[in-house]
Amino acid sequence: GRLQSAASEAELTKIQQVEAHFQQETQAVSAGQYVVEDAEHTLVEPSDEFRKTALIPSLEKYDALYKESVKDPDAFWSRIASEFYWKEKWEVNDGKIHTENFDIREGPIKVEWFKGGKTNICYNALDRHVEAGRASDIAMYWEGNEPGYDSTVTFGQLLELVCQVANYLRSLGVKKGDAVVIYMPMLVELPVAMLACARIGAIHSVVFAGFSADSLAQRILDCKPKVVLTANGVMRGAKLINLKSIVDDALAQTKKQGHAVETCLVYGNEVATKKEETAWVGERDVWWQDVIPSQASRSEVEWVDAEDPLFLLYTSGSTGKPKGVLHTTGGYMVYTATTFKHAFDYRPGDIYWCTADCGWITGHSYLTYGPLLNGATVVNFEGVPTYPDAGRCWEIVDKYKVTIFYTAPTAIRSLMRAGDEPVKKHSRKSLRMLGSVGEPINPAAWKWYYEVVGDSRCPISDTWWQTETGGFMITPVPGAFALKPGSATFPFFGVQPAIVDENGKELEGECSGYLCIKASWPSAFRTLFGDHSRYETTYFAPFKGFYFSGDGCHRDKDGYYWLTGRVDDVINVSGHRIGSAEVESALVLHPQCAEAAVVGYDHDVKGQGIYAFVTLVEGVDYSEELRKALVAKVRSQIGPFAAPDVIHWAPGLPKTRSGKIMRRILRKIAANQIDELGDVSTLADPGVVEQLIELKGK
Ligand code: PRX
Repeated sequence: GRLQSAASEAELTKIQQVEAHFQQETQAVSAGQYVVEDAEHTLVEPSDEFRKTALIPSLEKYDALYKESVKDPDAFWSRIASEFYWKEKWEVNDGKIHTENFDIREGPIKVEWFKGGKTNICYNALDRHVEAGRASDIAMYWEGNEPGYDSTVTFGQLLELVCQVANYLRSLGVKKGDAVVIYMPMLVELPVAMLACARIGAIHSVVFAGFSADSLAQRILDCKPKVVLTANGVMRGAKLINLKSIVDDALAQTKKQGHAVETCLVYGNEVATKKEETAWVGERDVWWQDVIPSQASRSEVEWVDAEDPLFLLYTSGSTGKPKGVLHTTGGYMVYTATTFKHAFDYRPGDIYWCTADCGWITGHSYLTYGPLLNGATVVNFEGVPTYPDAGRCWEIVDKYKVTIFYTAPTAIRSLMRAGDEPVKKHSRKSLRMLGSVGEPINPAAWKWYYEVVGDSRCPISDTWWQTETGGFMITPVPGAFALKPGSATFPFFGVQPAIVDENGKELEGECSGYLCIKASWPSAFRTLFGDHSRYETTYFAPFKGFYFSGDGCHRDKDGYYWLTGRVDDVINVSGHRIGSAEVESALVLHPQCAEAAVVGYDHDVKGQGIYAFVTLVEGVDYSEELRKALVAKVRSQIGPFAAPDVIHWAPGLPKTRSGKIMRRILRKIAANQIDELGDVSTLADPGVVEQLIELKGK
C-alpha cells in the first residue's frame, strides 16, 4: 500500500517485514468470495459422522437437559458437581444449593453456589487425574515463539511444578485469601503459577503481560499483593519485550504510593534476555530458578469453601478505573469444566489448542481450568499466529495432531487475508472441532473458517460469554443442532437469557434488544473487588431483576441468538439502531475490503453518524471510486440508513495483543479528539494510531 512503502524500513519491526513480505507473495483472498447471502436461513448441520459419537447427539437430548437445568438448577448442578472431589459436601437448604438475589429492589445483589462445600480446584485439575493413574499422560504441550522450541509436560510433572511453587509461596508467608499478582508470558510457568495459588487458597490476579507499567501499578495498588511473579523477558514474534523493566517501573510506582511489594519472583527466560543483563533490586528480586527447583515436590492442599475467592481479573469498564472481576471456587470449577466438555464435545484423547493468553478470561477458563479439570491435553503457544508466517497455526495443528482449535475472529480474519495457500499446505486432518470467541464473527469469516480451515467437516462453536460470566453462556452444543454462520446459537444449560427493550421489558420470540440474564449460573462473578456498589449499579441497576451484559442481541424466528456487539458500539442513526458489526460485515463483503471497524460519532442532523475504518486487501489502493463502492455495499446490504458517513482508509487497525480492536481509540479519532486518545501502550502496534491520524480526511 501507499503508506507501507512510505514508512521507513527502520520503523517496521522485523515481524511486520516478514508479514508484509509473506502477504505480497501469496494470493490475497477476498472476503467477498465467502459471502453468505442469508446467514439467518443458512443451516449447517453436523455431519452424520460427527453426530454418531457426539456427547449430546440430538436436539431432543439438548432440550431435555436444558429444560431440567432451568426448572431444577439445584438438582441439575449438584448431579454434575458430584463428579468432582469435595472434601466436604455443600449445604442443602430446602433442596437448594444456591442462593441468589438478582433484583436490586429486593436488597443487595448476592450469588452463592455450593456454599459450605470444601474443595480445591487445583486438586481437581491435577491430583485427581494423577491419583487415577494418569501421571504420565500429557497435560500440556508447550510450543515456543520460535519454531523448534517446545516442551511436553505430563500431569505428574505439572503437579510437581505446581507443588514446588506452592511451597515457595507458603515459605514467603502467602496464605489463604492473599492476592498474588502474576505478570508472565505464556510459558508453562504461567498456568503453573495460577494453579499454585489455587492450591494454597491464594487469590491470583493475572495481569496480561502486554499492559504498561502504569496499568500494572494500578492493579497492584488495588489488590495489594505481597508477591509479584514475572519473567525477565519474552520474544513475541521478532520483538523482545523486557517484562522485568516494566515490573521494576510499576513496583517503584506502587512503593511511592504506599504499597511496597516484598518479593518479585523472576523466571529467567534466557531465550529472550540474559540473566546478567537483567536489572535487579537485591532485597526484593529472586530468580525462580534459584528457589523453585529445590522445593519439595509435594505440597498439602488447602481445602477452601466453594465461595472462597479463586481469582481476580481486571477488565475495562466505561470509566477509566479497571474493574476487578471476582470469581469464587466451586461454581466456577463445575461450570467451566462442564461448558468445556459440551461446547467442544470433548472426549479423552482430544488434543485441544486455545490460542488465548492466560492474561485474559479465556486463558483462565478455557486454557487452564476447564480443560485440565477434564483431564484434557492442552497446547500452550507462546507466539503469535502469523510468526514466522501465516502457516504457523496449521503447522502446530499438524505437529500435535490438534483435534479442537479455539481462537478469535480477528485472528481468523487476519489469516484469511493471507489467503488459502498457507492453510492448504498443511493437512489439518486431525481437526474435528473449531471454536470462536471474543467478538461477533462475521458470516464471511465464519464460512472461510468452516470451509477452508475445517474442510467443511468441523462444527464451529461460536461461544458468547464475558470475563464476568466466567464461562460460556450462549454456545453451540455441536452434535445437537444445526449451526448458522455468525450465530452463537442457543443458551448453555442453566442459562436463561432475556432480551429486553430500553424500558427493561422482556421481549418474546423474534426480537432485538439488550441482552440480559434472568437468573444466576454457577460461574457468575460475585462482585467487583472492593466495590460491590459499582457491581450493582453497572450490571444490575440498568434493568431491574436482570444481569445486564452490555451487549445487543437479536433472536431470530428459530430462536437462534445473534450478538450484535457492545451496546456502546451500537450506533443510533436517525432513530435506527445499527450494530457496528452489521456494518462491518457488510463492508467486508466487498471483495477489496479485508477488515472494517465502525464507530459512531456525533452528527448534527442524524444524532449519530457512522464512521468506518477500512483495511483493504493487500495490494489494493484506496480511491474515491472504492469509497463509493463501499458505501453502496452497505446501502445494499442493510439499507440506505446504514450507509457510512465517513470511510477512513486504515492500513492497520489499533488492536490489543489479544487481538481486540480498540474502538475507544477509533471513536476519538472519528470525533477529532486526538489529544484525548488515552493509553495506547497496550496496543499490539501503537504506530497504527499515528498512521490513522495522518490519513484522516484523505
Ligand atoms: O461483546 C461481547 C464480546 O466480548 C465481550 C466480553 O469481553 P471479555 O470480557 O473481554 O471476554 C472476552 C472473552 C469471552 C462481550 O460482552 N464477545 C465475546 N464473545 C463473543 C462476543 N461477541 C459476540 N460473539 C461472541 N462469541
